[in-house]
Amino acid sequence: MMAASQPKVRIRAFGLPDQERLVQLWRDCDLIRPWNNPEDDIRQCLENPSSELLVAAAKNTLCGSAMIGCDGHRGWVYYLAVDRQYRHQGIGRALMEHAENWMRVRKVPKIQAMIRHDNLAVRGFYGRLNYRDGDVQLVQKWLNEETS
Ligand SMILES: CC(C)(COP(=O)(O)OP(=O)(O)OC[C@H]1O[C@@H](n2cnc3c(N)ncnc32)[C@H](O)[C@@H]1OP(=O)(O)O)[C@@H](O)C(=O)NCCC(=O)NCCS
Repeated sequence: MMAASQPKVRIRAFGLPDQERLVQLWRDCDLIRPWNNPEDDIRQCLENPSSELLVAAAKNTLCGSAMIGCDGHRGWVYYLAVDRQYRHQGIGRALMEHAENWMRVRKVPKIQAMIRHDNLAVRGFYGRLNYRDGDVQLVQKWLNEETS
């Protein structure tokens, strides 16, 4: 729960002027990998009618984000991030509540997130929000490379 003395946070849709700050936030939160182009991920999200990029702003400072979408079957969350200086104030929870409401409105029955195996901290966060481990193994293939 956000206490009254803590900064008032507004969850809103991403706008292009947010881009530089947002990518910096993702870098600071260690969410960017060499094989992911964040600007391209933002562009794809904005172009896709089944996805949305949410940001959290406190006193005009962008301090959080969540990229959400539905693949036609399940809801997904990517790039969930809260600036270190703003953590443990309920902003991550508020972003996920927005994400869950977005799914409910679209009648998406389940919401999922991929967590890197070494990201133990975020497991604790999701556990507090009543998310449970799924009994699945992720398999994947790059389609933009020649494979044998
Ligand atoms: C995960 C993250 C978004 C949480 O943001 P946050 O704003 O600090 O989270 P909140 O303050 O809303 O916390 C919600 C609840 O989770 C708990 N929580 C938060 N971080 C936690 C952690 N590392 N371990 C255990 N519980 C945690 C809080 O205590 C709170 O519980 P309560 O409401 O029952 O008291 C933030 O730590 C972050 O950006 N991490 C780095 C990026 C990342 O790993 N993203 C996920 C990629 S899959």
